Amino acid sequence: MFLQSKKVLPWTGKNYFVSILNFVIHTLIMTGIAIGVTFINAGGGESFLSYVSQGSNLIRYAYLGGFVSLLNAAVYLYFYYEFKDYLLKVKNITVLFLILYLSYILTFVLGNYVGIYARPIALCALFVLLLINKRTAVFMNFIFAIFVFLTDVMTNQPFTVMQASSSMIMTVTISIVAVYLIDGTGSRIKVFGMGLVISVPISVIALILEVETLTDYRNLLTIIFHSFTGGLSSVVIMMAALPIFEYLFNILTNYRLAEITDHKSKLIKRMKDEAWGTFNHSTVVASLAETCAAAIEENPILARAAAYYHDIGKLKQPIYFTENQDGKYNPHDDLTPELSTEIIRSHTRDGYELIKKYHLPIILADVAREHHGTLPIQYFYMKALKYTEGELDINDFCYPGPKPHSKIAAIIMLADGCEAAVRAHNDRSREKVEMIVDSIVEDRMKREQFSDCDITMHEIDLIRDAIVNGLSGVYHDRIKYPKMPKTGKNAFSSSSDRSSDREEKKN
Ligand SMILES: [Fe+2]
Ligand SMILES: [Fe+2]
Repeated sequence: MFLQSKKVLPWTGKNYFVSILNFVIHTLIMTGIAIGVTFINAGGGESFLSYVSQGSNLIRYAYLGGFVSLLNAAVYLYFYYEFKDYLLKVKNITVLFLILYLSYILTFVLGNYVGIYARPIALCALFVLLLINKRTAVFMNFIFAIFVFLTDVMTNQPFTVMQASSSMIMTVTISIVAVYLIDGTGSRIKVFGMGLVISVPISVIALILEVETLTDYRNLLTIIFHSFTGGLSSVVIMMAALPIFEYLFNILTNYRLAEITDHKSKLIKRMKDEAWGTFNHSTVVASLAETCAAAIEENPILARAAAYYHDIGKLKQPIYFTENQDGKYNPHDDLTPELSTEIIRSHTRDGYELIKKYHLPIILADVAREHHGTLPIQYFYMKALKYTEGELDINDFCYPGPKPHSKIAAIIMLADGCEAAVRAHNDRSREKVEMIVDSIVEDRMKREQFSDCDITMHEIDLIRDAIVNGLSGVYHDRIKYPKMPKTGKNAFSSSSDRSSDREEKKN
């Protein structure tokens, strides 16, 4: 999926040149593939060169090249105005055209050698949905449908213009249905199920179009079989090829995110075993971040993954972080505040390096490095003040940054700070949670932690509400039991009583 869709990076002349050059090269390749397909469709015995160089064919291919150029110009303009950053990387442009080539060739193979209704019509749209985004999937679906239609009518073989037109309309409509059905589907099994679902309208449309031939029941069965092949092949091919795209181009899909947040994945398992407190904290932050991301229309699955890994750097020295201490021994008691600060703030850098070392998505590494921005570590600053006469530079007690650069990093910063602050309080009533969350949000804004991120005030308000609701739910008021008298007739003193006393003291 394309992550930084709303951020526009500065463009240089070189960027324009490289992106346009890539589109020109791919226009030539696309035209070449289309000519190859029309040649095979013609099915003549002559050689490719003599076929192509015939006068009438040359004019036809000039038209084809012209139409493909127009289609690609439309694609370029779409990205330029909607997702400009996407065009900055050659890798992205390559992925886009590989999707088109693969979908086009498989459409041709299945269509020609099985049947027109067996075409994987939703393949292109589904690839774009999972590897780029939903809006682009809908747009590219139209481009793909027109491209296939063009080559169908150019050769007029083996399908009639009527069949080619029907195929185009089915591609457009069924693929849009598939995009909305499959968007956000987290499990691969459900995606296969959707393949069956979209096969039904394909069958219905195919049967209506071929009603005249249905007097022979074998035709009826063939059309139904082909329609289900078309619906299922779209999802089967997409799911089979997706890991190859993920691996070759290091693309993040929701499926990959689900895999890396699985409790059995290496680093999460280590966190669970070696830093239980940090694991618990990250789990709560993950649930908050997911809700916050949904509230501002960012990717909730990505936010969840980023939360799971935000404190992974604490694995280096877990015992130095409060949540992993048992309350008896605090190693910071033996250290100077300066040294303690150094250990605490290094977890952002260590997390960044650990995530990169494990070849996890770079956005997770960025969030780990940015989630404390340039905030001060107030506890050790105050501690140092006690031992210092005169001035003490607070900058020496601050995280090194950088500040959050993405909305996901901003969400993690707020959810992380609020969770830790609320957990540290005895009173976790909704009113108190609201007060704490407001003070954390105000503090981060006062310290200009969102100056490098394109988040709006409205979005911060939505995040604030989501955190309040989330934390009020997690840390709802515990029932307060009346204290039992310790002396007299009704005196009660058991081990469970003593342990509940301890619990109260701890909170
Ligand atoms: Fe942290
Ligand atoms: Fe944290």
